[in-house]
Amino acid sequence: MTGHTGFKGTWLLSWLSDLGANVKGYALSPEHENDLYHFVNGDTLCNSVIADIRDYNKLEQEILDFEPDFIFHLAAQPLVRKSYNHPVYTFEVNVNGTINVLQALRKVNNRCTVVIVTTDKVYENSEAGKPFIEEDKLGGFDPYSASKAMAEIAVSSFRDSFFSKDSYNIHKKAIASVRAGNVIGGGDMSSDRIIPDIVRGIRKNQVIELRKPFSVRPWQYVLEPLSGYLMLGAKLNSNAVGFSSGWNFGPNPGETLSVKEMTEIFIEKFGQGKFEVNVQGNDPHEAGFLMLNIDKAVKKLDWSPKYNVYECIDLTVKGYQQIEKGNRDFVKEQISGYYSF
Ligand SMILES: NC(=O)c1ccc[n+]([C@@H]2O[C@H](COP(=O)([O-])OP(=O)(O)OC[C@H]3O[C@@H](n4cnc5c(N)ncnc54)[C@H](O)[C@@H]3O)[C@@H](O)[C@H]2O)c1
Repeated sequence: MTGHTGFKGTWLLSWLSDLGANVKGYALSPEHENDLYHFVNGDTLCNSVIADIRDYNKLEQEILDFEPDFIFHLAAQPLVRKSYNHPVYTFEVNVNGTINVLQALRKVNNRCTVVIVTTDKVYENSEAGKPFIEEDKLGGFDPYSASKAMAEIAVSSFRDSFFSKDSYNIHKKAIASVRAGNVIGGGDMSSDRIIPDIVRGIRKNQVIELRKPFSVRPWQYVLEPLSGYLMLGAKLNSNAVGFSSGWNFGPNPGETLSVKEMTEIFIEKFGQGKFEVNVQGNDPHEAGFLMLNIDKAVKKLDWSPKYNVYECIDLTVKGYQQIEKGNRDFVKEQISGYYSF
């Protein structure tokens, strides 16, 4: 997997390790102090390669050496606000990085099943208030969203040009893309994400500012989309033709909250934290309403979210509190709780 040192990557790595997978990871070192990857001793869960996804030769060599049965591609510059400050870097990592994975795949001789992680922000968003379906038009206002939409087009192009469904028996490569968003869960320490901002505020006893309090988002607990990626990977592996396409993973209809509502509930459940609304007219554009239609995954993968939005927040609060207590097993414990829920 790429991006194994990140927030979702560390959770997926822990889960794959629980499932008995032999994992090679390819990513940069975690950039935040108290990162989740080191907290769970990620280096003991995989063969970790610290390198840049833009370094094609290195990536190709690592993939060919390992001969993976599956690739989960998560490495990315995943932050909207950072993408406004570093657009070229964002496009390079998110577009060229994905193309590098796909190009290296052309050299892989063995059978290989690939899940490329993009985002719910890949759809052209006219703020119509309608949940997106997989066939909706791709687009992207900010550089992050546009870069991920471009990654989707690259996936589609490589699939049509080099890994067509008709010639699967020759190339033996199955590729799907997955679109999820606003993932919450213990251990995310990214900048400019609301839950990590609240947790940092609590730790430093600072009041956090809400810049987009009324933006509505499909919040989901980290194990929900990851379970979708794993189920899709398994189905794709046994039926490449039927499952090589784009897939939405999001909460059930009605399970959305505004940023302000989410903040209030998180702070109440945590028992600490302060916020103030500070809307500035010159803030860069971000989508106001974002919701995914998940019917395809529900019908064809038999996947569905297990938790409602309040349970998602509850588990996230508990995750951060377990980190405060130094419980390095909390990720594994929440994964086994997910099975039994
Ligand atoms: N967290 C969310 O809410 C969310 C929502 C939608 C999509 N996603 C997507 O999920 C994936 C994982 O997101 P995350 O939240 O874990 O982000 P994260 O920032 O915690 O992790 C990003 C990972 O990518 C790696 N990476 C970044 N630049 C790299 C480079 N130049 N070379 C090699 N590796 C590099 C990092 O080292 C890290 O392992 C990303 O593709 C992201 O776009 C996340």
